[in-house]
Amino acid sequence: MKVDLSGAPATMLATLYARALDARAARPLLGDTAAVEAVSRIEYDFRRTGIDERTAAGVALRAKLLDDWTAEFLARVGEATVLHLACGLDTRAQRLAFGPGVRWVDVDLPEVVAVRERLLTPPPGDYRLVPASVTDEAWWAEVPADRPTVAVFEGLSMYLTEDEARGLVRRVAGRFDSGELLFDVYGPMGIRLQKLVPAVRRAGATLHWGLDDPAVVESWHPGLRCVDALRSLAMPGVGQLPLKSRLPLRVMGLLPGFKDVGRMLRYRF
Ligand SMILES: C[S@@+](CC[C@H](N)C(=O)[O-])C[C@H]1O[C@@H](n2cnc3c(N)ncnc32)[C@H](O)[C@@H]1O
Repeated sequence: MKVDLSGAPATMLATLYARALDARAARPLLGDTAAVEAVSRIEYDFRRTGIDERTAAGVALRAKLLDDWTAEFLARVGEATVLHLACGLDTRAQRLAFGPGVRWVDVDLPEVVAVRERLLTPPPGDYRLVPASVTDEAWWAEVPADRPTVAVFEGLSMYLTEDEARGLVRRVAGRFDSGELLFDVYGPMGIRLQKLVPAVRRAGATLHWGLDDPAVVESWHPGLRCVDALRSLAMPGVGQLPLKSRLPLRVMGLLPGFKDVGRMLRYRF
């Protein structure tokens, strides 16, 4: 099928392609075979995303960490709601094979949901796919606030303005009694250097919000605690990457400013 997307929605083709490349690698880190299948059905020159085996490994590790954190949350609380925001064509719900006590809500912009509906089979169980912006008011009211809730969003925060990011954090922590927020951020340096990120530049997308101090988000809502803030360059598994993927990360880690190029964040409320 042909996909005609531009701006932030088009960037989900880059992360999809990264997961597909990882799944095709000799030793996959995430092993998302659904991504291989989706890529094979989309008529698109995926090389345009600028993703190659080296950058794909970083995307796969990020997805794996967020899978693991989401699974840990579900194991800890039992009955729960998962808000998987900016889901793109990511099959996190299928990968985690969530059980009967879990309500899963995938959310992305309408043009992305239209593609997703044509390409991916919904997982079994209590599942909804919502075509909306995370900044829209209406759909939130339809999500019952009866259970601990985890909001997991990968590759979204940088497309939001700081006001939108603050609004999102406050809405999740304010609407649900308890839960977690699991997401990745760019540092301010990453935002300044966005023109160097081919997947962003070629999609014609613009990055806005960068965070250098995880405590800033804690100050946005009472009772919000940062329980993990890992530099992207220090994600679990980075040490096991092939040298060609590890080396550029190591060099970046030595440069001032670059070592904070991105973070993986886990907040609890
Ligand atoms: C880099 S992609 C990541 C997609 C997916 N999380 C993944 O890892 O493959 C960015 C995604 O953010 C979505 N997005 C951007 N702004 C959004 C908003 N305001 N509300 C919902 N989704 C948004 C885009 O449509 C796109 O699917």
